[in-house]
Amino acid sequence: MRGIILSGGSATRLRPCTKITSKQLLPVYNRPMIYYPLNTLIKAGIKEILIIISPERAGDYLNLLGSGSKFGVKFTYEIQDQPKGLAEAFIIGENFIDKENVVMILGDNIFEDDFINDIQDFKKGGKVFAKKVPDPERFGVVKFDQNMKAVEIQEKPKQWISDYALTGLYVFDSRAIKIAKQIKPSARGELEITDLQNWYLKHRELEVGMVKGEWIDAGTFDSLLKAQIFAKKKMQDKMIINN
Ligand code: DAU
Repeated sequence: MRGIILSGGSATRLRPCTKITSKQLLPVYNRPMIYYPLNTLIKAGIKEILIIISPERAGDYLNLLGSGSKFGVKFTYEIQDQPKGLAEAFIIGENFIDKENVVMILGDNIFEDDFINDIQDFKKGGKVFAKKVPDPERFGVVKFDQNMKAVEIQEKPKQWISDYALTGLYVFDSRAIKIAKQIKPSARGELEITDLQNWYLKHRELEVGMVKGEWIDAGTFDSLLKAQIFAKKKMQDKMIINN
């Protein structure tokens, strides 16, 4: 299993802080934000991790994270020239993924749960993780039938379809590369991760797990503040990477 941390984007919602650095390098209590998703991958036993970054911030990432040897893992870096969408990560990561399964986590997503078994036991298809939220319109959303079987996935639906957000952790087999290449840009000009999820859903190969603990997408000032407090109170004893 290979790991990807998607850590590019322009983070306009966090201006002016992100005028001088990347959102995912901003502090979340006592660590840079990216340490939390990195911790999730390392805890799950992932040893080879591709970090996708924007060209303006590449030096900052190399300075902070280096080769990965201090964490006992190996980092590969790729540049995403423009934020053309989450699914583009699988195209950028084509050579890195090769024929392996891959777990991608967003650089601004902080999870209290471990996903060790989900990641280590994954064989084929796709697996994503949902969480009930009060503001589903901010996220990719999954609708379930009466038997809690996923039936529909939409990116930021304007009309309510469900309270279950799809979090920024995705496990796919290597077919994700080919499928991502077939996705057409959405109205906002992005290759949407929900299109990739929908491919696996339509082919009955998408498993949807539930996130039990806290989950924060730290991409706004309010959620970043929440993440800071949460990280101080609940994440300290879960972190296996420190410096
Ligand atoms: O946080 C979970 C949500 O993340 C999902 O529910 C949505 O389905 C998914 O589209 C995404 O929504 P966001 O509105 O949070 O996406 P955002 O544009 O903020 O990008 C998420 C992260 O990925 C962010 O850290 C920046 C990075 N990114 C984003 C894009 C579009 C890239 O590195 N490259 C990109 O092209």
